[in-house]
Amino acid sequence: MSATVLVTGGAGYIGSHTTRQLVQAGFDLIVVDNLYSGHSWAVDPAARLFELDAGDAATIGKILRAHAPIAAVIHFAGYIVVPESVSDPIKYYRNNPIASTNLIQACRENGVQHFLFSSSAAVYGQPEHVPITEQATTAPINPYGRGKLITEWTLADVAHTTQINKGGDDRFEYMALRYFNVAGASPDAALGQATPEATHLVKVACEAACGKRNAVQIFGVDYPTPDGTCVRDYIHVEDLAAAHVLGLKYLLDGGTSTVLNCGYGHGFSVREVIDTVQRVSDVPFPVVETGRRSGDPAQLVADNARIKQQLGWSPQYDDLELICRTAFMWEQKLAARISRTG
Ligand code: UFG
Repeated sequence: MSATVLVTGGAGYIGSHTTRQLVQAGFDLIVVDNLYSGHSWAVDPAARLFELDAGDAATIGKILRAHAPIAAVIHFAGYIVVPESVSDPIKYYRNNPIASTNLIQACRENGVQHFLFSSSAAVYGQPEHVPITEQATTAPINPYGRGKLITEWTLADVAHTTQINKGGDDRFEYMALRYFNVAGASPDAALGQATPEATHLVKVACEAACGKRNAVQIFGVDYPTPDGTCVRDYIHVEDLAAAHVLGLKYLLDGGTSTVLNCGYGHGFSVREVIDTVQRVSDVPFPVVETGRRSGDPAQLVADNARIKQQLGWSPQYDDLELICRTAFMWEQKLAARISRTG
């Protein structure tokens, strides 16, 4: 019998790609999503979708009991817009760390022993060195990053109590995956980022290439980087989804709790990303240089030695052109759908 896994946020961008890969890997999937930014069409048809908040511990508890045994919970659901977390911190603390604590409690009360959590490179804040290892200081600079770190700490503390108290049957092991800049879409253009009012660079540039925006702004050209614009480690969403499948197998095979960076280990500047989207789309959309956006570190690049070593993760899409091409193809598909439905 295949193991049953509950995925929160499985109708969202990263969650939908991961759900599809988990189904292909033979897992039985339950998806919990309130469809705040996710879409029911993005959920793999083999998964059962429950429309509710990930922080609704009472209902999640009922679902966990009704489908017991649940081998693991993978927790994607959460708000993701950093500037919004600065302007509305309570919204972010309530929906991210507080809801995550409720979910972890439901897991503990219903015998779930394995938990994978979507964390973020935002926990590092302004890094002292790049590439960033998992041992680097965590000093987040916004409520979004602080909320992610609170949940990492909650998981570590809960796992610790089960190690010192009991062991054996009551063990709780977790994995926190710290995502760098996730981008791209599935190569068959079946799935991709469908968030309205997106703020992420690759998506914004692809929207401009599709005529959905007039121009792309570059937020700051005076950073201490080779071309003056910020450098980020862009990771294709399918490679990130694959890291979750490997991470799940690691925990189910008895792996102990761990925190892993998810990135390729090299960065590209904002200008390089925009140039690449213009090249693959063949659309020379206008680019406007403006001032810095608050809270942007100059460089975020992962040291990925640990995930390669612990999970045997071997990226298949480590190519900025491929990331931008799949994102553009997806954006074209979305634009066609919107023009058809008005
Ligand atoms: N940028 C622009 N113009 C835009 C959009 C973005 O110049 O229209 C710049 C940003 O200023 C930044 C870079 O492009 O320098 C990347 O910005 P994104 O908004 O695409 O992504 P962030 O680096 O701000 O954040 C993302 C995730 C976080 C995660 C972080 C980790 O949203 O959750 O990557 O690397 F923590």
